[in-house]
Amino acid sequence: MNTNKYFLEIPNQEFNRKNLQIYEKAFNHNGLYTNPLINQEKVIEDNPFLQWLDGQYKFNCGVITTPPNTLYNFHRDVSRGVCINVLLDHENSFTLFSNKVFDDNNSHYADLTELKYKQNKFYLFNNQIPHAVFNMEGNRSIFSIEFDLNKQKLSYPILKQKIKKWITSTIDT
Ligand SMILES: [Fe+2]
Repeated sequence: MNTNKYFLEIPNQEFNRKNLQIYEKAFNHNGLYTNPLINQEKVIEDNPFLQWLDGQYKFNCGVITTPPNTLYNFHRDVSRGVCINVLLDHENSFTLFSNKVFDDNNSHYADLTELKYKQNKFYLFNNQIPHAVFNMEGNRSIFSIEFDLNKQKLSYPILKQKIKKWITSTIDT
C-alpha cells in the first residue's frame, strides 16, 4: 500500500521535547484546543529538519490536545493544504485517511489508511485527503506546524518533493 500520498515520515529526525515550553492557556483554533509555544526559536534551533524548514517557509507551531472519547470527524481542511505533526502523547487513538468517505456511491463502506504515528517522529500530513482522529482513551497531544501559506500556495505534493530532495542532500554529504 502506497501511503505517501497521505503522509510521509521524515527519516532520521527525532523531535526533542525537552525544550518544548508551551503557554498554559489554550485557544480555540478551528475547533481544536491549541497551546502556542513560548520558545519557538529554541525548538527550531534544536532540530536540523526544523532549521531547514524555517529557511524555506514561515510557520507557527503549537501543541494540540484532545480529550478522551472524542472523534474529530472526517473532513478536508478548509485552508491548509499540508501540515507537519509529531505525536507527543496518547494512549489509544487512531488517525485515519479515506479517499472514498465523501463519495456518493450508496455504500456504507470506505477505504481506510491509518497513520500509525511513532512518538517524536515528524510526519508530513496531507490535509486535503479526508481524515479523522478517534481518541478512545487518555489525552492526546500533538506538536503541529502550520504554514502561513494556504492550500492554494502550498500543497502536500510540492512540499513532499522539496523534503525528499532535502533528505537526499543530507544523506549525500
Ligand atoms: Fe484536519
